[in-house]
Amino acid sequence: MADQIRVLIVDDIPETRDHLTKLLGFESDIEVVGSAASGSEALTMAGKMLPDVVLMDINMPDMDGIAATEKLSAEVPAAAVVMMSVQGEADYLRRSMLAGAREFLVKPFSSDELTASIRQVYTRERDKQTRMSAMPVASGTAGGQSPVTEDGTHDGQIVAIFSPKGGVGRTTVAVNLAVAAATELGKSVVLMDGSFQFGDVGVLLNLNPKNKSIADLVPELEAGELESIDTFVINHSAGIRVLLAPPSPEMAELITPSGVKKVLEALRKNHDLVVVDCTSWFNETTLAILDAADTVLTMLSLEITSIKNMRLFLEVADQLGYEQNKIKLVLNRADSSLGIRVADVESSIGRKVDHTIVSDGRSVVYALNRGVPFFLSNREAQVSQDILRLAQSVAGERVTSGAREDTRKTAQKKSLFSFR
Ligand SMILES: Nc1ncnc2c1ncn2[C@@H]1O[C@H](COP(=O)(O)OP(=O)(O)OP(=O)(O)O)[C@@H](O)[C@H]1O
Ligand SMILES: [Mg+2]
Repeated sequence: MADQIRVLIVDDIPETRDHLTKLLGFESDIEVVGSAASGSEALTMAGKMLPDVVLMDINMPDMDGIAATEKLSAEVPAAAVVMMSVQGEADYLRRSMLAGAREFLVKPFSSDELTASIRQVYTRERDKQTRMSAMPVASGTAGGQSPVTEDGTHDGQIVAIFSPKGGVGRTTVAVNLAVAAATELGKSVVLMDGSFQFGDVGVLLNLNPKNKSIADLVPELEAGELESIDTFVINHSAGIRVLLAPPSPEMAELITPSGVKKVLEALRKNHDLVVVDCTSWFNETTLAILDAADTVLTMLSLEITSIKNMRLFLEVADQLGYEQNKIKLVLNRADSSLGIRVADVESSIGRKVDHTIVSDGRSVVYALNRGVPFFLSNREAQVSQDILRLAQSVAGERVTSGAREDTRKTAQKKSLFSFR
């Protein structure tokens, strides 16, 4: 069958290989093309069989799954790796993603989770290939894709994540929203850290602060002819591109409002979506970002100070002449029981909350400390579903309309299998 997903299984335990092979044998759209007992055997087999997806165990005696994935990414880049690991090895998640794995399954996982992951990475990878072959003139007909300008570049959408109070989850939402739009909606996404003094985006994505940042890009743009922004933007294995904040706070002075505008224009020309994590105070550069944004996701929490500041911000936004629907209110940790109800918030600020995101300290902080977005490490969680809904609402539906069966949404996992 032309459309079958070709899977290679890699695990040093014969029973697990057999079990997985049998399990996948029930799926009409999946074909197991081989099984390997070690990392090195996997590399040889993948080179010959060119699988679409490699199901890789992380713990193997000769070459572990991470080393094998690293080599595989270089030698057979079209093969997408789904890593399998036990819960206690969660730190491996970050290393797996950095090695190039596309998905991470924590054992024990259900057969539904397994097949959904395989289908999802396959679809995502295929969409990516389609997008790449369509570049630089992206098709204007695909649903949700940004318009293409006369010179063949995009006219991408700018989404600023702002809040008039700190610590309400801007960076968390910005990072995961960007990843969701890239991996689930097939958008080309760049995430810009707009918190120029104390940006946290690099920390959440485990990026080396020695990478180039906006402080390198602004002077180049101000000086005139810059051929490409590619050397300033980092390709992250989570499927997004990142423009970091300067490595030290005093360098924030180098970022002028006109420089910010130029950066945003350059980024939107090259991407469908530009997500900007802003500061929580007004200054010239933040205003430049908010002005340039098509949508300002303004975050608040169920705290009295957050609500007070939101009321003030909405007044300022009004004075700035922002259209009502440019500002969307996002209530984070909406289910925390802090004695304030959503209805109270709405009547206090005189506006409906547009989106809510649940509180999930376990997924969020766990991911934060490991430098991997929870949208990747815990996609089934409610907090990830909320982020996806937010992404769909601001960035539109998928770019390509593949007949993907959305098995991930199957909330009830029927049969639980456990293999180690
Ligand atoms: N939905 C959530 N559930 C649980 N914890 C969350 C949630 N969203 C954010 N947090 C936690 O709240 C804290 C603040 O989040 P984050 O750093 O994203 O906020 P911020 O608005 O960017 O803060 P800052 O003002 O420092 O830039 C973090 O510890 C984060 O893990
Ligand atoms: Mg932040």
